[in-house]
Amino acid sequence: MLKDPAELAASGSAESSACEYFPSGELLIADGEIIAVGPRGTLASADEALEVVDHGSSLILPGFIDCHVHYPQLDVIASYGEQLLEWLDRYVFPEEAKFADEDFARSTAQEFLKELLLNGTTTALVFGTVHSQSVEVFFQECEKRRLRMIAGKVLMDRNVPEALRDTPASGYEDSKVLIERWHGRGRLRYAVTPRFAPTSSPEQLAAAGKLLDEYPDVYLHTHMSENQNEIQWVSELFPEAKHYLDVYDSHGLARRRSVFAHCIHLQQDEWARLGDSGSSIAFCPSSNMFLGSGLFALSKAKQSDIPVGLGSDIGAGTGLSCFHTMDAAYKTQQLQQQSLSPLQNLYLATLGGAVALDLDDKIGNFQAGKEADFIVIDLAATPSLKRRLARAATIEEKIFVLATLADDRAVKETWILGEKLSERAR
Ligand code: GUN
Ligand code: ZN
Repeated sequence: MLKDPAELAASGSAESSACEYFPSGELLIADGEIIAVGPRGTLASADEALEVVDHGSSLILPGFIDCHVHYPQLDVIASYGEQLLEWLDRYVFPEEAKFADEDFARSTAQEFLKELLLNGTTTALVFGTVHSQSVEVFFQECEKRRLRMIAGKVLMDRNVPEALRDTPASGYEDSKVLIERWHGRGRLRYAVTPRFAPTSSPEQLAAAGKLLDEYPDVYLHTHMSENQNEIQWVSELFPEAKHYLDVYDSHGLARRRSVFAHCIHLQQDEWARLGDSGSSIAFCPSSNMFLGSGLFALSKAKQSDIPVGLGSDIGAGTGLSCFHTMDAAYKTQQLQQQSLSPLQNLYLATLGGAVALDLDDKIGNFQAGKEADFIVIDLAATPSLKRRLARAATIEEKIFVLATLADDRAVKETWILGEKLSERAR
C-alpha cells in the first residue's frame, strides 16, 4: 500500500518505507469500506463470523485511477498517421458526431465501462461529447455499477463541424442541468469540460468560469499545450494572452480540481502558475507518443508542486490498461535520461491520481475508512509474466515487471465497494 505522497516524493529508501507490502496479507472490509490491512491471520481470519475470500498467491492493489480518458473514442484507438489537429478532424469529430444518438452513446458507455473494469481501472475523469445525453447515459451506467467517476459534457462553440457545436448559452445551460442532476449523487462528480482553447470562444470560457463560481466543488477538465501547431493556433486566437494557461486562467479556470491533460510544452511561468493555482496535470504518455506530441517533463511538475496522475487518453492513447500507461510513462522518462521508479509509477496510477483528482481522502490506497475499490492481479496470467516474475526478488521488481509486461490479462478480478464487479473469463 502506498502511503503519504510527501514521503513518496522523497528518494531511495524513504520510498520503500512509504509503501506497505504484505507478502501474505489480509484486507478487512465492511459496508464497502476498508477497515484494516495487515499480515494474514491477524484480521479477518481471527473472526469466524466474517466471510473470508482467499485470493491465493494473487497480488491485491488499489483500483487504478485514469485521470484523463474519452469514452466516446473507444473505437478510434489505433487510427493511423496523423498528429493532433489533423487526427481530430479526420477521425475524432466524425466519431463524436455519432453520439447524438442516445442508444449508440449508451452501448458505447457500457462497452467502455466493461473494458475499463476488465483493465482494473475503478475511477476515471472522463470526457463525453458535446451532446448532453452522452454524459447522461454515461452517469446512468456508472450509477448502476456504483462506480466513483467524474465526467462532463464537452463545451465547444467554434472551429469544429457545425453538428458538434454548442453555444456559450446552451453549453452553460446543459452543463448546469447535468451538474444539478449528477454532481455529488452517490460517488459521481461533474467536470466542466471545455475541449481545449481553440474550440471555445472567450464567451464560452467565461461561461465555464461562471459555472465554477456557482458550483465551487465541481471539476474543470481540459487539454493544454499538447502540440506545437495547437499552441501556435491558440496564440493567434487569443493574442492578448500571456501564454496558453493564461487563456484559461484569465477566465477563472485554473484552480484546485482543475485537471489539465498533457502540458508538454509549458513555459516556466505556466509551471509556476499551475503550482500556485492548485491545478493538477494528467500525464498521458501513450497518447503523447502515439500523436508525436512530445515528452512530458515530470520532474518540472514535481519541482512546481503540481499533483500529477496518469491518463490513458484513449483514443489517442493506445489502450485502457494502466500497466500499459505505466510502461509508456517509464519510457518517456528514459527518453529524458531519467528513471521513473516502479513505486513512483504505481503511485501515479493509484494514490497520485487520487491526489490529482482531490479524492485522496476516499480512494487510492488501503487506508482505513477509504472505499474498497481494489483489483486482484494474477501473477501467472501469461507464460512470460510467470517466468519473469519468478525471478523478481522484491515487490519493487515485481511492480516493474508488471508495468512492463502486464495488461488486462493480469487483472483477474475488479472489486467495487467490497463486491466483485468484474472477472476475467479463463
Ligand atoms: N485536444 C483537443 N481534443 C483532444 C482529444 O480528443 N484528444 C487529445 N489527445 N487531445 C485533444
Ligand atoms: Zn484527451
